Amino acid sequence: MTTRKPLISGNWKMNYTHLDAIAVVQKLTYTLLPADYDRADVSVHPSFTALRSVQTMLDADGIPIALGAQDVHPAESGAFTGEVSPSMLAKLNVRYVIVGHSERREHFGDTDAFVNQKLLAVLKHEMIPILCVGETLAEREAGFIEDKVVGQLEAAFDGVPAQAAEGLVVAYEPIWAIGTGRTASPDDAQAVCKAIRSWLASHYRTDVADKVRVQYGGSVTPTNIAELMAQSDIDGALVGGASLDAEKFAQIVRLGRTAS
Ligand code: PGA
Repeated sequence: MTTRKPLISGNWKMNYTHLDAIAVVQKLTYTLLPADYDRADVSVHPSFTALRSVQTMLDADGIPIALGAQDVHPAESGAFTGEVSPSMLAKLNVRYVIVGHSERREHFGDTDAFVNQKLLAVLKHEMIPILCVGETLAEREAGFIEDKVVGQLEAAFDGVPAQAAEGLVVAYEPIWAIGTGRTASPDDAQAVCKAIRSWLASHYRTDVADKVRVQYGGSVTPTNIAELMAQSDIDGALVGGASLDAEKFAQIVRLGRTAS
C-alpha cells in the first residue's frame, strides 16, 4: 500500500483559449469536493496563453488545484524566439512542468540531453518536473521497453541530486497508448512503473524511490482509472483527451484518489 499522495494531472495540449480554460476550471471547481483535494493532488496544464488567467482565478478563489505548464525552455532568457523561460513560469506560481512529453520529442526534436537541461532548469526554479518516458509500439514488440525507459531515465536524471530527485514526478506514457484509446493493461503498466522505481532505488536509494510519484498516462478515462490506480507503483495519471472535459476529469480524480 502506497503512502504517496496521488497526483492527477490534466494535460490540455494545444486546446482552449484562455476564455475556454477559465470556463473549464470553473466547472471543475463546482464538481470537485474537499475530500477529492485531501486525497489527491490535482494539476491542470493549459497552454501558455491561458496560464495567467487560470492562475488569477485559482489564486483569487483559493482553489487547491495546482497550475502546470506543458513545456519550458531551459535558458534563463535570451534570443529564443517563441520560447518561455522557467522564471516566467515560476512567477505565475506554476508548480508542475511537463518535460520530455513524447509529442515534444517526436515533433519538436527534444533529445534526451535537452530534456535533461529542461528538468534541471525546472528544479532550479523550485518547480516540480513531470518527466515523461515511454516506448513506441515497435519498441514494445521488440521487447525493448525497460531498456528504452531506463535510457530515458539515465539521461534525464543526470546531475540531479537525491534530495531533488525524491520530489520529482515520472509519467510512464507508452507512446502507442497516447490519444489512441488503447491503454496499457494494469499489469503491464504496473510492471514498467515498478521498473522505474527499481531504477530510482538503484541509482539513488530505496527511500528516494519510495517518495517519487510515478504516473501512468495514455488514454486514461473514468472507466480505466480505478484499475490502474489499484497497482502498487502507480501514483496518479497524466490525462490528455479526457481532461478536456471537466466532468470526466473530475470523475477521474474522484476514482483515482486514495480511499481514505
Ligand atoms: P491521452 O494523452 O490521455 O489523450 O492519451 C495523454 C498524454 O499525452 O499525456
